[in-house]
Amino acid sequence: MIKVGIIGGSGLESIDGMVFDGETALDTPFGAPSSPYRAYGLGDCLFYVISRHGDRHVIPPHSVNYRANIYGFKLLGVTRIVTFSAVGGINPAYGTGSLVLAGNAIDFTGGRANSFYDEGSCVHVDLTCPFCPDLREDVKKAAGLKGAELIDGGVYVCTNGPRFETAAEIKMFAAMGADMVGMTMFPEVSLAREAEICYASVNVVTNPAAGVAAERALTADEVTEAGAGAAEGARNIISGLSEILKEERGCRCKDALKGSFADK
Ligand code: HPA
Repeated sequence: MIKVGIIGGSGLESIDGMVFDGETALDTPFGAPSSPYRAYGLGDCLFYVISRHGDRHVIPPHSVNYRANIYGFKLLGVTRIVTFSAVGGINPAYGTGSLVLAGNAIDFTGGRANSFYDEGSCVHVDLTCPFCPDLREDVKKAAGLKGAELIDGGVYVCTNGPRFETAAEIKMFAAMGADMVGMTMFPEVSLAREAEICYASVNVVTNPAAGVAAERALTADEVTEAGAGAAEGARNIISGLSEILKEERGCRCKDALKGSFADK
């Protein structure tokens, strides 16, 4: 069985052939994950799904226990994580409703517990390419197989939230090379690397980022509505992955901790 973690996917029950296989509520040394892990079997894959913001969407981005969520996946034997998240579009080519497979990322968060190694060990993982190149290829193939349109690449800038950005901040992020903005990529992606789990990030553009379209207020409601519209794309990608993924991993993620300890 290939164990795949899914963060933020909902409505998987309606994928043809998918079988619900029970849920597991875990406790970890870092506290409780955001929700139980719900297991779904399809082909050779077992998908463990967690709601990043909790089942009732009451955990804001800066309060998510990212360490517990990723550690829980590790305890379950997950080797790959694919996330489905909402972003604001900075790149004008990203229309509302587009799906974008992130290519790289910038961290503008602060004050979040961002490592499994806070004392006793000093770990510096490589994050040159934050996303697993092999898993990215698999996600692209899965989308192609099922006819889901997916933009390949683009830089995700992660803010601390929970407020939306100012127009001036978005202008600055654009000048820095960011294509989309969200609040949840960090420290999730670097913790996955510390856990030696492959990670790829699919993002639905729910709104033009602040000041990108005509001057107007952003609302959480429009983000929620546009996010729900992308569920079909997510289902297609997950269904395609179940046909494509192989047990073995040829990437470097599985050995990410090798040479990463600075301890004397
Ligand atoms: N900014 C930050 N996070 C977001 C946005 C946004 O405009 N849209 C969806 N998540």
